[in-house]
Amino acid sequence: MTLQEDKDYDSQSVYSPLTLAIYDTLVLRISNPAVWRCPTSRILGIYDSYVSSNHLDVGVGTGWYLDHCRFPAAPRLALMDLNRNALRSAAKRVERYAPESHVADVLQPVRPVGEPFASIGLTYLLHCLPGNMPGKARVFDHMLPLLAPGGVIFGATILAEGVVRSGAAVRLMAFYNRKGIFGNATDSLDDLRAELTERFDKVDITVVGCVALFVASAPRSFRPVLQQVPAQKTT
Ligand SMILES: C[S@@+](CC[C@H](N)C(=O)[O-])C[C@H]1O[C@@H](n2cnc3c(N)ncnc32)[C@H](O)[C@@H]1O
Repeated sequence: MTLQEDKDYDSQSVYSPLTLAIYDTLVLRISNPAVWRCPTSRILGIYDSYVSSNHLDVGVGTGWYLDHCRFPAAPRLALMDLNRNALRSAAKRVERYAPESHVADVLQPVRPVGEPFASIGLTYLLHCLPGNMPGKARVFDHMLPLLAPGGVIFGATILAEGVVRSGAAVRLMAFYNRKGIFGNATDSLDDLRAELTERFDKVDITVVGCVALFVASAPRSFRPVLQQVPAQKTT
């Protein structure tokens, strides 16, 4: 068992082959438009706007966005996740791009994996992580050494506070938090903005339903990562 695998977060261990098989229907077709009130097309839109031809995607799930987005040119594509089922599922889906796969827990420092990336996607990752926003925002610090100069970090996360939630959103979010699938019970729009603006000069957040679509670039300073834990390449 590797260092990364021995952390059994509910938020990632839920991604078995079975749950991955229903993920696109349950989350992308039903929950996004009907519960979180953010059509999947809006999230795909930030991929189409910001994905580069040298892209790292973190917390890949089934890889639906990578499969459907428009890369500006044939990409170097890297996938990173704590869960090997998700990595396998996403890698198969986008095998036409010959993706690299890296097992890593991004709550821990991550060693750069080859050349830095011009874009890093963090979609529906933050709300799955345990803890409060200041704690989970250390993911941004762990991504900075992997980001090329001029690069951009973008993504989406479901918030509990500072957004308008439907009744169904309140109930489903409470259920997922009880089960440990989500860890976003205190995640607020203000905290997300504060954590991003602390680290980046350029921050743009658009709220759709109870989802924050964020784009951040121009890191304020490079924060050295003291304890380096290697990501494990699987392919
Ligand atoms: C809700 S899915 C998002 C999938 C995809 N990005 C999407 O939006 O459709 C969350 C993903 O984050 C991964 N994940 C959760 N905690 C993680 C961690 N600490 N480090 C790396 N990946 C993690 C899970 O394994 C899962 O693949």
